[in-house]
Amino acid sequence: MVIQSPTRRQAILFASIPLIALYIIFTLKLHQLVPSISTWPTLSGLARHKLWVWTTKKAQQPHGHDHPGQEYARLASSTTRRPFSRHIVAVGDLHGDMPNARRVLRFADVVDDHGDWTGNVDFLVQTGDIIDRRDDTILLFLWMEKLREQAHKAGGTVLSHLGNHEWMNALGDWRYVYPSELKTFGTIAARQRMITTGRIGRAWATNYTTATRLPLHPSLGPVNTPYPPHSSLSLNVQKDDEEFHWRSGPDSDPDHIYNHNPIHHHGSQHDEKEKIDPLSHAAFSFVHGGLSPTYHELTPFPSRINQLSHSLLEKVQNRPQPPPHPPHPYHGLPHGATPAEHRLYDANGPLWYRGWATESDKTVCSQVDDVLRKTGTRRMIMGHTPDFHNIKSRCNGKIIIIDTGISHAYGGTLSALSIHYTLEPVGSDPSSRSWREREVVSALYPDRREVIVSDERVIEGDFHLVH
Ligand SMILES: *[C@@H]1O[C@H](CO)[C@@H](O)[C@H](O)[C@H]1NC(C)=O
Repeated sequence: MVIQSPTRRQAILFASIPLIALYIIFTLKLHQLVPSISTWPTLSGLARHKLWVWTTKKAQQPHGHDHPGQEYARLASSTTRRPFSRHIVAVGDLHGDMPNARRVLRFADVVDDHGDWTGNVDFLVQTGDIIDRRDDTILLFLWMEKLREQAHKAGGTVLSHLGNHEWMNALGDWRYVYPSELKTFGTIAARQRMITTGRIGRAWATNYTTATRLPLHPSLGPVNTPYPPHSSLSLNVQKDDEEFHWRSGPDSDPDHIYNHNPIHHHGSQHDEKEKIDPLSHAAFSFVHGGLSPTYHELTPFPSRINQLSHSLLEKVQNRPQPPPHPPHPYHGLPHGATPAEHRLYDANGPLWYRGWATESDKTVCSQVDDVLRKTGTRRMIMGHTPDFHNIKSRCNGKIIIIDTGISHAYGGTLSALSIHYTLEPVGSDPSSRSWREREVVSALYPDRREVIVSDERVIEGDFHLVH
């Protein structure tokens, strides 16, 4: 081919410059230096993409040669009534033992052999007491932040709780700090800094709570949507769940307002609502110690507890740090702590309460329903009181205690709790409002899995997926 005109020759030359540039970039592998270029489509990537489009199309095709009307019905129902599933893994007290924590999250399929998030669970819940009794405090807290980040990128969530031991350390009660653990921080002052204004302390303040209400289904709203939903306290839950404002202003007494809450007084209205909305209590609560039936600040749950936790931690972390006990005397809560903040940290509060583990079956099973009703939950999950053999389920799994002494400090049992929740449309009729709800709760151990709860029922309703 002969190129006659100089302008055409120029045009061809210019058009080939980008191609030459690309050739140079890829032969010298320069694209790998720049992350945004390294994700440029490759041939195999394109092929995979194609394959994926093809397979989903194929999966949507109805089987056999049905009547066109039936075909339409099946497609309509598959688009409007899609099945939903959620997988939650919870682990209890870790007490400074990184190798055992890694083992547990590995066999629960939360992390891979490198300790990285697998993406195979939707939620990881840790119920507090990561600190004390062993040396791996720094490693464990930094690992949790890494997992939180990795989970977030993969569409998962890590929910972390402050246990009584995190609070003890923040308060200068260092009775369970090993001398070898202190060495990992360097000095007492360095350790105090790290758990107040340093990396660990900031993580506690921003990414840890004292209580969680975790919905099984998205129609209940995001994690930590307060219950009851229409409490006159009108908490404005923001996107990051823990931030909220009392509309009534900081000086008014929330207890006073709550006692005038119409929902509180008209129990029958409340029960009526539960009948209309069968998923209103499709959520679990998580705290370190337990939600005592006589604890004053159960509702709105969990926002009231977390508001107290947030305000108390701020006071504790921002005071001049008292010299640690022992050998110095224990200083207790800051002078400015309110009565409600004192109740948060006392023996009947969510950090220390042991009644659900220690009282008789008769007692706990007669008390549990009231707490579940108030907190808008089906089951309560907690750590704190170890059983060195098993995860403990009481009152048909309404109370589940997951502290098995995972740390070498106890030489207990490695365990995790696994929760599989599914909601599937019943039948193919698009106008049907029936769904099959399944809830399987199992205790996982290195060598076995024990089913604690396996519930299945058909419920009626329109459960749209809200994302
Ligand atoms: C809290 O978690 C977020 C999300 O993973 C992370 O980006 C942030 O650094 C964490 N905050 C602290 C203080 O560790």
